[in-house]
Amino acid sequence: MSLVSVEGLQKSYGDVHAVQGISFAVTEGEIFGLVGPNGAGKTTTLEIMEGLKAADSGTVTIAGVDVLRHPEKVKQLIGVQLQATAMFEKLTVAETLDLFRSFYDKSLPTADLLGFVSLEEKAGALTAELSGGQRQRLSIAMALVNDPTVVFLDEPTTGLDPQARRNLWDVVLSLRQRGKTIILTTHYMEEAERLCDRVAIVDGGKVIALDTVRGLIDGLGRQRAIEFQTRASATEEEYAAITGVERVILQRGAEEGEGAARQVILYCGDLQHSLSSLMEARAAKGWDVSGLQVRDATLEDVFLELTGRLLRE
Ligand SMILES: Nc1ncnc2c1ncn2[C@@H]1O[C@H](COP(=O)(O)OP(=O)(O)O)[C@@H](O)[C@H]1O
Ligand SMILES: [Mg+2]
Repeated sequence: MSLVSVEGLQKSYGDVHAVQGISFAVTEGEIFGLVGPNGAGKTTTLEIMEGLKAADSGTVTIAGVDVLRHPEKVKQLIGVQLQATAMFEKLTVAETLDLFRSFYDKSLPTADLLGFVSLEEKAGALTAELSGGQRQRLSIAMALVNDPTVVFLDEPTTGLDPQARRNLWDVVLSLRQRGKTIILTTHYMEEAERLCDRVAIVDGGKVIALDTVRGLIDGLGRQRAIEFQTRASATEEEYAAITGVERVILQRGAEEGEGAARQVILYCGDLQHSLSSLMEARAAKGWDVSGLQVRDATLEDVFLELTGRLLRE
């Protein structure tokens, strides 16, 4: 049974069709990701689901509550971390949580909230003194104050360094262990792979794919990628002629014309054969090849396949 269901959501801002018929359902206890580039419509979708924004059409149901008709009822059920959370700089971490707890009839003890996000040692620190990662963790604790059933996280790790990002991933995974259902947005494919049970890839206000991470990657049918840079002016056909190569992506860099650096991705099933065939072609045709790496296909490759664009930072 799905705990959350979204059907036919549409929202325009004047001429901008931000959300164009988004539908999906989220099962209790899963981490569900809305993944896509900036401007895809992720935040708008989330804010409609949270009852913070009106939709032009469509329905959202959370635990049987029609969110668009009864936004006040849904507030008891959900916890919301906004994309940019404003903090009271003159309050301590514990005081901030106490203030948020006072908004609800029922709330979790501040000590528990601090424990969930590993901020016990910062209880007495002013919010202004927190690092970016600590602020994000506090904003998650703020979203947990009313012990919500569903937690919404909008780009929870944007702007964080790799270590802080990993710490936050651990917090999100621990929320699932506590039985929370989590709906998050991200434009980091790696983050979606690490955290999400299922992913809806959103682009241009539409869901263009929806499955488990594994299912999406397996759907490519090509498990491995060979990637390198070159200044050779070889054509797509020349790369496609390499043994076992099933798809070729040629990305032009900022430079133009003859001798400009290009990023090449070759997808293949049989890595050994394709690699030796590439090396033969390189020797025969005098291609320069630098930064050669071999990797498993990722969600990034799924996005590239679906849209023809890379989402990488
Ligand atoms: N309040 C607003 N007024 C006008 N346009 C908006 C507003 N909010 C978002 N948009 C536009 O709607 C589109 C989707 O935005 P958003 O939902 O924030 O995407 P995402 O979160 O995926 O980056 C973008 O083109 C954005 O510029
Ligand atoms: Mg957003």
